[in-house]
Order: sequence, then structure tokens, then C-alpha cells
Amino acid sequence: MSKYNSIRGVYDILPMEAEKWQFIETAARKVFDDYGFSEIKIPIIEKSELFTRSIGEDTDIVEKEMYTFPDRKGELISMRPEGTASVVRAYVEHKMYASQSATKLYYVGPMFRYERPQKGRRRQFFQIGAEVLGLSDPAIDAEIISMLFTFFDQLGLEDLILNLNSIGCKECRPAFRTTLLSFLEDKIGQLCDNCQNRYEKNPLRVLDCKSKTCFEETKDAPSILDSLCTCCSEDFEKVKTCLDMVDLKYNINPRMVRGLDYYTKTAFEVTSNRLGSQDAVAAGGRYDLLVEEVGGPPTPAIGFALGMERLSLLLEEEDLSLKRCPDLYIAALGVLAHEAAFRLAHELRTHGIKVEFDHEGRSLKAQMRRANSLGCGYVLILGEDEIKTGRAILKDMTNHGQEEIAWEGILSEMRTRMRG
Ligand code: HAM
Repeated sequence: MSKYNSIRGVYDILPMEAEKWQFIETAARKVFDDYGFSEIKIPIIEKSELFTRSIGEDTDIVEKEMYTFPDRKGELISMRPEGTASVVRAYVEHKMYASQSATKLYYVGPMFRYERPQKGRRRQFFQIGAEVLGLSDPAIDAEIISMLFTFFDQLGLEDLILNLNSIGCKECRPAFRTTLLSFLEDKIGQLCDNCQNRYEKNPLRVLDCKSKTCFEETKDAPSILDSLCTCCSEDFEKVKTCLDMVDLKYNINPRMVRGLDYYTKTAFEVTSNRLGSQDAVAAGGRYDLLVEEVGGPPTPAIGFALGMERLSLLLEEEDLSLKRCPDLYIAALGVLAHEAAFRLAHELRTHGIKVEFDHEGRSLKAQMRRANSLGCGYVLILGEDEIKTGRAILKDMTNHGQEEIAWEGILSEMRTRMRG
């Protein structure tokens, strides 16, 4: 038993799991690159005010979930609960808007939210996110969603559901808010405590409350889609048309309003029926006002982030066979053979050949068993005699053939075999 355990909701990603994550990340980087995105590395800590202003003072994230502390000079710092605010801050700080074309960025890394841990919900969790800044055409909304689904396809995930909504803009949302408030007025007593608080501050959030009672009480609530202004309505139609063009199926869900305040127009979530209550694998939307809010020029933008832990849960049943097996195992017996193995392994590895050998003086039988369990392609057997004669047996573990070779020439021997 270790004297110390990791803190609640924060986990080690052990090697087997990390391998899967590498596979996911590699696929994401490839797909995102195909769509013209570049990586940005954003800080893990920021001034708290960036998040309170961007995500919204009255959101759960800002009210209850941020890891916030004063630094040594008393300035309030927060561990990032998400990446969008930092990307926008970097975009404005480095005047990326001055470039001729749109900016397409992606990021990978840990986020922190003080939530109640459960399956698929952690206090330190990892996101891969993508943001497009500088484009208002609704076709880009469909393009970024189709990029996400191209990525899911690459991972072999086919049973994901795209939930789509438009939450309007500053022109049309206030009117909907008023309509919704009057609908909720005589139901407020029946709503959960959370929703009673939300009623004044953030009534739209009542619509996607997970409580059954709240859902029942609000099942006849007005739909935001009926309140959209002409511009939002036309944009939403174009998003749908573009998704139809690439055969992407979607569920229109007018109750999905997202938990961050910066969204405008298109909002979406990708869910899975295989995840239980924390079923959103990825989510995002448009945030056309945020760049200005953070001090930049008016700049339309859209993005999403996906949760690594949830994605990894979905890949649990897939046979990914990710680990690259060693090309060669050197079964070395005796001090001189071990020295030779050490030298050969170094030479081979510097030429990109994956090699394993034993450091514990195990018997030949034990070493052969190990080579087998690692799935090595070949085994070179080196003992005292082999060191003297310069010749040794090279076993092919796939076809069980074997051949005597001049072991000093193992590099060219392996190269020839691996090429063939
Ligand atoms: P979000 O919906 O808060 O959006 O998070 C996106 C995804 O991160 C979720 O769908 C989920 O997969 C994962 N996630 C969130 N919280 C946790 C948690 N506690 N444990 C495990 N996974 C979690 C955002 O963060 C926005 N920044 C997305 C975005 C980018 N919108 C525009 N651009």
C-alpha cells in the first residue's frame, strides 16, 4: 500500500491505457491536419477572470467547479476547466486575426473541474479540442462536425448520435428567454433546487436539466427554434443542408442548450448509448461574440472538444492491437554474451529496430518464453560458444524456421528480413 494515493477524481493513465490514448491522438492529429488545423499548446493556468468572463459567472463550471487559488502576489489563478477561452485569449494576444485567412487550431491536454466523480466524469480529464476563428459561413459548422465524424470513423466508432440545435443570437434569444420565463413561472415550485436557482439567472439551462421531474414539468416548453430571427434560422437551415450533403444524420434537439454561456447559433453534442449518464463524448458550437468579449475585433468562431476518457471507454471492447511487438529478442547467456547483447541492441535500436534482451541472467528456456509472450519476430541465441565462433542461431518466431548466421552482421540480416 502506497503512503500516498492520487487525489479524488484524478487518475494515473497506466501504460495499457496510455497506448490507447496515443492511438486516439495520432488519429486525431492526422484527421485534423487533413482539414487544415494546426496545434496550439495553451497554458494549464490562466487568470480566473478569463474563465469567469468567457464561460459565464452563472454557469455551474464557474460557480462550483473551478480550481481557483491566489498566487504568491494574490492574483486569482484558475486551472483551466476547458480550452476555448485560452485559445481565444491566445488568438487575441498574438493578433492572429491579422492574418489573411481563418485560423484553425487544435489542442490536446488535461482540464480540471471539481465535479462529483463517476464513470466518465473526472476532476482531471483530457480533451482534444478544435476551434475555427474568423469564419461565419454555416458551411464551416457542418465542416467541423464532419471532421469530428471522420475522426470517429477512423476509430471504427459508428454508433454515435449527433444532437443539433441553434440557440440563437443576441437579437433573438432575449425574446425566447422572456417566453420561457413566462412558461416556467407557475412551474417553478415543482422544479429541482438547481433549476429554481437557474430560473432567474440562466433559465435556458432548465431545458436540459437531467432531473426527471424537471423534464416532465417542462416537456411542453416553447422551442427556441420557433423564436430564431431570420439570420439564425437561415444559418441553421444551411448547417442542416450541408450535413445532408455529406450524409451525416442528426437529431434536432431544441432542449440542448449547453452549459457554457459563450455559445450563439449552432450548438451540438455527440452522445453514445453505451456510456450511461455521462453520455456526451464531444460537444461544441458557435461562439461569435467571445473574441470581442476577450478584447479582440468582432470575429465569428466555432469549435468542439471531445473527452478522452469517454472515448476510451467506447473503445474498450474494440481489439486495437496497438502495441508494436519487438522485432528481435537477444537471448544472451553469460557475461560476455550479455555485453555483446547490450552493444548489438544499441546498434539495432539506433537503426529503428525494436529489440529486447534480458538483464536478469535468466535461463534460455525462460528467455524464450519471454520472447514468445512479447510477440518478438526473431530470437538471436547468444552463448559463450557463439561469442567464440562468431556464429549464432537466428530463430524466426513466425514460421519456426532457424538459420545460423554471423551474429556481428545481425543489423543487415534484420534489415533484409524486415524488408522482405
Ligand atoms: P464541454 O461540453 O464542457 O465543452 O466538454 C466537452 C467534452 O469534454 C464533453 O462532451 C465530455 O466528453 C468531456 N468532459 C467534460 N467534463 C468532463 C469530466 N468532468 N470528465 C470527463 N470528461 C469530461 C467544452 O469544454 C467546450 N470548450 C467545447 C467547445 C470547444 N466549444 C466550442 N469549442
